[in-house]
This record gives sequence, structure tokens and C-alpha cells, in this order.
Amino acid sequence: MSDFINGFWPWYVAAISLVSILACALLLWIAGKATVNAHPGQAHDNTTGHVWDQDLRELNNPLPRWWMWLFILTVIFALGYLAIFPGLGSYQGLSKWSTQGEHQSDVERMRTELAPLYAEFSAKSVDALASDPRALAIGERQFMNTCAQCHGSDARGSKSYPNLTNGNAAWLGQRGADHIVQTVTNGRTGVMPPMGVAVGNDAAIAELANYVLSLSGSPHNEIKAFGGKKYFSACAACHGVDGKGNKALGAPNLTDDYWLHGWGEAAIVNVIKNGKTNVMPAQAPKLTADQIHVVAAYVLSLSGGATVAAAQPAASK
Ligand code: HEC
Ligand code: HEC
Repeated sequence: MSDFINGFWPWYVAAISLVSILACALLLWIAGKATVNAHPGQAHDNTTGHVWDQDLRELNNPLPRWWMWLFILTVIFALGYLAIFPGLGSYQGLSKWSTQGEHQSDVERMRTELAPLYAEFSAKSVDALASDPRALAIGERQFMNTCAQCHGSDARGSKSYPNLTNGNAAWLGQRGADHIVQTVTNGRTGVMPPMGVAVGNDAAIAELANYVLSLSGSPHNEIKAFGGKKYFSACAACHGVDGKGNKALGAPNLTDDYWLHGWGEAAIVNVIKNGKTNVMPAQAPKLTADQIHVVAAYVLSLSGGATVAAAQPAASK
């Protein structure tokens, strides 16, 4: 109720509500007072003087008592309701009830109820939780609420949003519990600067893009790729001389045939020319540390679980 765009609307809304209620009361009062005058020359026989089909007369009986009291009670109820609950512009009502407040108290009640469960979870490591079905069930729901809109409900991601499952052999960061907790808590920003100028003209960039495709054995033009190799020195600082990437910088492995920002010459030319800034916002404001612990366990389980995570550094270059 505090979100009106300017000072006029609260008054306008309050006035409409009050005026309508008063108008109803007034209508009742007038209807109770009014008597219908018999047409000149007619007897005062409690009819309105309207006659249809020769003998069908409209009577002018008063409203039934019960109906009138119901009407009055409705008006009193409406006024009482508006006094207690927010309904008159920015007036909060005597009860100070609000939808936000109700939601907040629901959230707090749930947090208190779940506190013992979370305390039990936090006592365990993320790796251990990744095989605890109760933690995974809660983690999955959190994932659906806070992560699925970007990473997909199956966590397989989409263009520019990483696949978090075992199907993605190529994580930007060091795969495992620490990386997941750290990413969810603080977010991450992958920045590749535009490199077009450093590489040269469009022909040079196309050659380099084919060289990049050749690194993973993806379909490419061999002659262009051969010519493009010499430009790769501009990329080596981040992607490594062999193109295998640098997890500390978040520079992807270009030899693994996993393309976060699209596959093929055109997509790679685009990344080289325009660079790429890819942001995952920090989730800490939305999730408590305990919740992050649990959702991280869920993601870890999808990405192959603790054992794969531990084996990963050896397996990747
Ligand atoms: C607004 C979109 C968005 C939301 C919401 C989001 N992410 Fe992300 N996430 C991204 C993007 C974009 C990246 C890639 C960042 C980059 O390129 O460095 C990413 C990267 C990650 C990574 C690192 C992947 C890698 O390859 O190293 C993990 C892990 C991750 N997200 C988990 C989560 C989890 C768990 C949640 C929910 C709690 C979540 N994300 C919510 C957009 C999002
Ligand atoms: C300053 C470091 C840096 C340099 C220099 C750099 N890159 Fe990158 N590159 C990155 C980062 C970081 C990303 C990932 C951005 C993100 O998180 O999405 C990336 C992403 C890419 C991608 C997208 C990969 C995918 O999976 O879709 C390609 C292709 C690429 N770089 C090619 C190159 C080429 C070719 C060069 C040399 C001209 C180059 N990069 C130079 C840091 C760099």
C-alpha cells in the first residue's frame, strides 16, 4: 500500500471507496423516505400507478425489514473492514496487516521450523550431503526456485548459461564443492575483452576462428585454420598456449568441443570481435549460507558427485 506513484492516488482510491459506501447508505435512506404520488384522479391504493396488460399493477411495498438490516450491516461491515485492514489509500489500517508482512512471517516460521534440519546439514560437508537424499530433495526445490530460470530445470543450461551436469566436461571454474559454494555466494563475472583489433582484419579473424575450431577437432576449414595459428598468441595469455584454458581466469578450454556462447565460425568470430562479459549475480542476498550449502550439494550431485569432483583436477590437463 505504500507503492503509489504520487500523493494523489491514495486520496483518489480512498475517496472512491468511502463515497461508494456512503452513496449506498444514502440510497437506502432516500428509498425509505420516498413515497410515490398516486396519479391525479386515482385512489391512494399503495400502487405506483404503473399498469401493464390492463390489470397488472406495480405495488409500492416497503423493503422487507430483514433486507434493510442486512443492507445496513453490510455498510457497517465495510466501514469496520476499512478501519482495520489497509484499503483506504496509504492508510495502513488499525491491524497494520500487509501481504508482505504475512509473507515475511511465513518465511520466518518456515526458517524456525527448518532450523534443526539445516543445523544437521551444516554440520556435514557439501561432499557428504551430495549423497543425502533429504538434502538433495530440498536442494532440488531451491534450485528450481533460484537457479532454474538461468540454468534450466534440468540444470543443462543454454547458450551463455553453463550446463551444470555431468554432461558438461568443461567447467569454467575448478569443478567441485568449493567452486559451487563460492559461485553461488558471490556470483561470478567472466570477461573476455574484444580482441578484433589485436588480431587484425576480418580475414585474419576468420582464419583464427577456424584455428580455434580445429583445436577441438570440430568441423573447420583446414587452410584457414593453418593460417590462423599465428594469431593465437594474442589469446594465449588467458586461454593458454595450447588453448586448454585457465580456470583461475575463467577462460574456457577451447579444445573440448563445449561451446558456451555458440558453436561455429560465426559465433567464434563474434566472441573475438565483441568480447564477452557474462555475469552470474550473487545469490547470497536471496539464500542463507545454510541454503547455499544444501543447493550446492544438489548441484554437486548433478555434476557427478563428490568423487568425480575430487578426480577432476587430475583428469583435466
Ligand atoms: C541470472 C542468471 C543466473 C542465476 C539465477 C544463476 N546463475 Fe549460475 N551462472 C549464470 C551465468 C551467466 C554463469 C556463467 C558466468 C561466467 O561466464 O563466468 C553461471 C555460472 C555458474 C556456475 C559455474 C559454472 C562453471 O562452469 O564453472 C555455477 C556452479 C552456477 N552458476 C550455479 C548456480 C546455482 C546453484 C544457482 C542458484 C542458486 C545459480 N547458478 C543461479 C547465471 C545464473
Ligand atoms: C583477458 C583474457 C582473455 C583473452 C586475451 C582472450 N579470451 Fe577468450 N575468453 C576469456 C574468458 C574469461 C571467456 C569466458 C567468458 C565467459 O565467462 O563467458 C572467454 C571465452 C572465449 C570463447 C567462447 C568459448 C565458449 O565456450 O563459447 C572463445 C571462442 C574465445 N574466448 C576465444 C578467444 C580467442 C580466439 C582469443 C584471442 C583472440 C581470446 N579468446 C582471447 C578470456 C580471454
